[in-house]
Amino acid sequence: MLNHSRWTRPLIASMIAVACAAAAGAASADDAPLPKLAAKKPLKVGFAQTESNNPWRLAETKSFKDVASKCGWQVVMTDANSSAAKQVSDIRSMIAQKVDLLVFPPREEKPLAPVIIEAKKAGIPVILVDRNVDQSLAVAGKDYVTFIGSDFIDQGKRAADGLIKATNGKANIIELEGSTGASAANDRKKGFDDEIASHPDMKIIASQSGDFARDTGRKVMETLLQSHPEVTAVYAHNDEMALGAIAAIKAAGKAPGKDILMVSIDGTKGGLEAVKSGELVVDVQSSPFFGPLACEVAQKYTKGDTIPPWVKVSDKLYDKSNVDENMKYGY
Ligand code: AHR
Repeated sequence: MLNHSRWTRPLIASMIAVACAAAAGAASADDAPLPKLAAKKPLKVGFAQTESNNPWRLAETKSFKDVASKCGWQVVMTDANSSAAKQVSDIRSMIAQKVDLLVFPPREEKPLAPVIIEAKKAGIPVILVDRNVDQSLAVAGKDYVTFIGSDFIDQGKRAADGLIKATNGKANIIELEGSTGASAANDRKKGFDDEIASHPDMKIIASQSGDFARDTGRKVMETLLQSHPEVTAVYAHNDEMALGAIAAIKAAGKAPGKDILMVSIDGTKGGLEAVKSGELVVDVQSSPFFGPLACEVAQKYTKGDTIPPWVKVSDKLYDKSNVDENMKYGY
């Protein structure tokens, strides 16, 4: 009789080893140097947008369109319609088209990491803008050139400080979170929640995602107003959700800025108008204008300059004291 296990055991072991290596290769750093970026014009650049349902995203996309000819870029653009899976397949098709450079805001931290590794293997450098990926899955400076973006943790902390000041350290807070799994949502939550934690009379009574969208923010706020009538403050991770929440608060017969104090992040035109009218106490700026910065970084990278793993964007803070002179920066 044949001894099956003598043959099948090593075979199974080697199949497992191959599967593990494939999985590791798909989502972990390797030691190969980053791909170089050719000095050619036009440079074919893939820009994979996450969605186009708010002024922030539209301003970001426009900044890439505006910089393209100045930078010598021929830009291939896609829109993932709020789906991380679609953004992954958009990027895979850009890799298949052999773009020279990939620039994108990863919608979520984990699902977008493997395509960065795939791009590296295909010899295409990647620059992340606006949002980052999970650093245990893909590493800035090793698997991709750099992350250009704001410090979202600090934005959340500054929003918390604004709310602590406005409420004299006493509030029942509803937190409207951004898209689940996005670095902007994870870090803005961390920065805010950690700061609030050291103030015993500041209580987060509910925290729920509004997906960074105005109408979702409005609906979530509507429901939370009913289940938490004791609310006295709102922290929205972006202006669109804050504006949706303002509509819900008014519809419930309460006054934003009086009955319920609100803070938000972005600095859109709508956000700045809400600061001006007193409906928002503080709006922390988060710039969407990454086109020119990405162009500058790409040109430096082509020349062989050292690029830091994080090109940090600094943000202003808008409140009643400076909103008039800053209205022109709303988008
Ligand atoms: O990643 C940045 C956030 O995403 C902005 O605050 C928001 O408006 C956008 O959708």
